[in-house]
Amino acid sequence: MGGSLAGKLENRRILITGAASGMGQAIAELFAAEGAGLALLDRNEAGITEIAATLKAHGFGCDVSARAMVMDVVAKAADALGGIDGIINAAGILDITPFAKLEPESFDRMLAVNLTGPFNIIHAALPFLQQAARATIVNIASVSGLMPMAGTAGYSASKAGLLMFTKCLGLDLGPNIRANSICPGVIKTEMTRYLWENQEHTERAAARVALNRLGVVEDVARATLFFSTEDSGFTTGAALPVDGGFSWR
Ligand SMILES: NC(=O)c1ccc[n+]([C@@H]2O[C@H](COP(=O)([O-])OP(=O)(O)OC[C@H]3O[C@@H](n4cnc5c(N)ncnc54)[C@H](O)[C@@H]3O)[C@@H](O)[C@H]2O)c1
Repeated sequence: MGGSLAGKLENRRILITGAASGMGQAIAELFAAEGAGLALLDRNEAGITEIAATLKAHGFGCDVSARAMVMDVVAKAADALGGIDGIINAAGILDITPFAKLEPESFDRMLAVNLTGPFNIIHAALPFLQQAARATIVNIASVSGLMPMAGTAGYSASKAGLLMFTKCLGLDLGPNIRANSICPGVIKTEMTRYLWENQEHTERAAARVALNRLGVVEDVARATLFFSTEDSGFTTGAALPVDGGFSWR
C-alpha cells in the first residue's frame, strides 16, 4: 500500500464489542478513520447508537454474556456488513474487592462478561470469519491476566483465561484466522476513573512504570490496529503488554 492514501482497513469488516466507551470507542474511531466497515456492540444501547451514527457504523445494543442475543446480533451485524473479517472483544467489567468480601455473583459476572463474552462472540462469528480471506481476532485482556494483584481474583482469573483461550484459538483456527491479545496496564477510561480522579493515586500509578504515565486509549487502539492488519501477519497467539512496563515486576 506504500505511498497510497488508502486506509489500512479498507474493505475490512470489523465487529467491536464495548464500543460505547473507553478503548472500544477509541478502536472504533481509529478503525473508522482507517476505512473499516464497522459493527459496534455494547450493552449501553443509547451510547452505541449515538457513536455508531457519528462513525457511520452499524450499532447494536447487546450484552455479550447473553448467548442467544449474541447469536442474533452477530448474524445481523454480518448481514449489515456483508460478512466479518475481524473481531475486537473490548467489552469488560472490573470489581476490585478483597477475596473474603467478593460476592459470588460478582465473580460469576466477571467470568460471564470477560471470558464467556468473547467466546460467545467468536463462536457466533466463526462461520463468517472462516469465509473471510484473512481474518483477525483481538481480545483485550489485561496485565491482570499476567500477574496477581490484590482484590482481583475474579477479574484476573477471567483475563488469564482469556489469554489462554486466545492462544488456543490461534492454534485451532490458523492459518487463515489469527488471534492475539493485548494486556493493557492502567489506561485512563471510565473503568479507572476511581484512580485517575485522585491526584495522589495517579502519581503513584505513573511512578510505578518505566514510562512514568497512565496509558491513554489511543495507545491500545494503535496496538489493536497492528493485530488487525497484515503488519502482524506472522503473529498469532501473542499477548502484547501495552502497559508502560507495568508487568515487568
Ligand atoms: N482501563 C484500564 O486500565 C484497563 C486495563 C486493562 C484491561 N482493561 C480492559 O479493557 C477493556 C475496555 O475497558 P475500558 O477501560 O475501555 O472500560 P469502559 O468501562 O470505559 O468500557 C467498557 C465498555 O464495555 C461495555 N460493556 C460492559 N459489559 C458489557 C456486556 N456485558 N456486554 C456488552 N458491553 C459491555 C460497557 O458498557 C462499556 O461501554 C475491558 O475488557 C477491560 O477489562 C482495562
